Amino acid sequence: DIEAALEEIGRAPNLERLQGLKVHYLGKNGQVTQAMKTLGQLPPEERREKGRVLNEWKRALELALEAREAQLKEQALQAQLEQEALDVSLPGYAFPSGGLHITSRIVLELVNIFRRLGFSVVEGPEVESEFFNFDALNMPEWHPARDMQDTFWVEFNRAAEEAFTIQGPFGEDVTGLGGAVLRTHTSGMQIRYMIQHTPPFRIVVPGRVFRYEQTDASHEAMFHQLEGLVVGPNITMADLKGAISELARGLFGKEGKARFQPTFFPFVEPGVQFAMWWPERQKWLELGGAGMVHPYLFKAVDDYRERQGLPRAYEGMTGWAFGMGVERLALLRYGIPDIRYFYQNRLSFLRQFRG
Ligand code: PHE
Repeated sequence: DIEAALEEIGRAPNLERLQGLKVHYLGKNGQVTQAMKTLGQLPPEERREKGRVLNEWKRALELALEAREAQLKEQALQAQLEQEALDVSLPGYAFPSGGLHITSRIVLELVNIFRRLGFSVVEGPEVESEFFNFDALNMPEWHPARDMQDTFWVEFNRAAEEAFTIQGPFGEDVTGLGGAVLRTHTSGMQIRYMIQHTPPFRIVVPGRVFRYEQTDASHEAMFHQLEGLVVGPNITMADLKGAISELARGLFGKEGKARFQPTFFPFVEPGVQFAMWWPERQKWLELGGAGMVHPYLFKAVDDYRERQGLPRAYEGMTGWAFGMGVERLALLRYGIPDIRYFYQNRLSFLRQFRG
């Protein structure tokens, strides 16, 4: 029954089944092939008629097989394409990524303002000799100003003493120059840098500092400062005011400005504290101390240079220095209520300052 055969081919569910049908009808032992083989035994009249019919069937079956094969292949292709399809409009995976800590961001912001003004950026050691942290900064042991900064003293035990020495600006051992402290400010780098370089120069020094403090909302035992130092012939207080004012504009826009009030630090004379005007909030922010480098420092530096066999380099020079609190700027500007948030590493806090 040719009709049934054609229909069966049209409904063949897959290529294997189709191949089976092809063999069944048209293969060497297939029905049509077999029938054709019997033609020879028929009388000529009948043979011609039957031969014609069989050929028609064969042709019809071939066409049906071909058509179904094309159909099945097309379906298979569509199925594969569908399976491999990529929906480019799906939202991607959110990979967790880190970011700079709020302190690093502020340090970079500050440092970049000074870079524009031609300052170099240098860093110094956190475990510091008493000599650089205090004595050379005009704060001898008996000086009452030492009480302004409560100090972590570092004690070496015998084993550590051999493994660890404090090095001077040229790598020389300065352990003999006094005790060791966790630096209470970045000002010690003023001395180190001056010993190693000859003026003129402009530097800023970002870094961690440590105070032996009872921790509370406004005190931490570790925080950051940015130190600045400019030395050359004819450097004046006007240059200091200019630089700090420029910093104020860099931080707070062109309405930003700076204010200076007299105060005392042993390593500057005259000494000032400075504040910056925050136009948005119409507020003065007390940010740090500054002043003209005390001549005692130049003398201590030149004496040290001489002991190292270097020529004196600071006679006739003047300079200014400043120091400011990095966290303090962030606390004021972002209205952060507690300095302890900075280093508790709570992500809910830190994430708010990710850029
Ligand atoms: N070192 C001072 C402090 O820690 C700040 C300061 C630096 C003041 C430089 C004057 C000049 O408070």
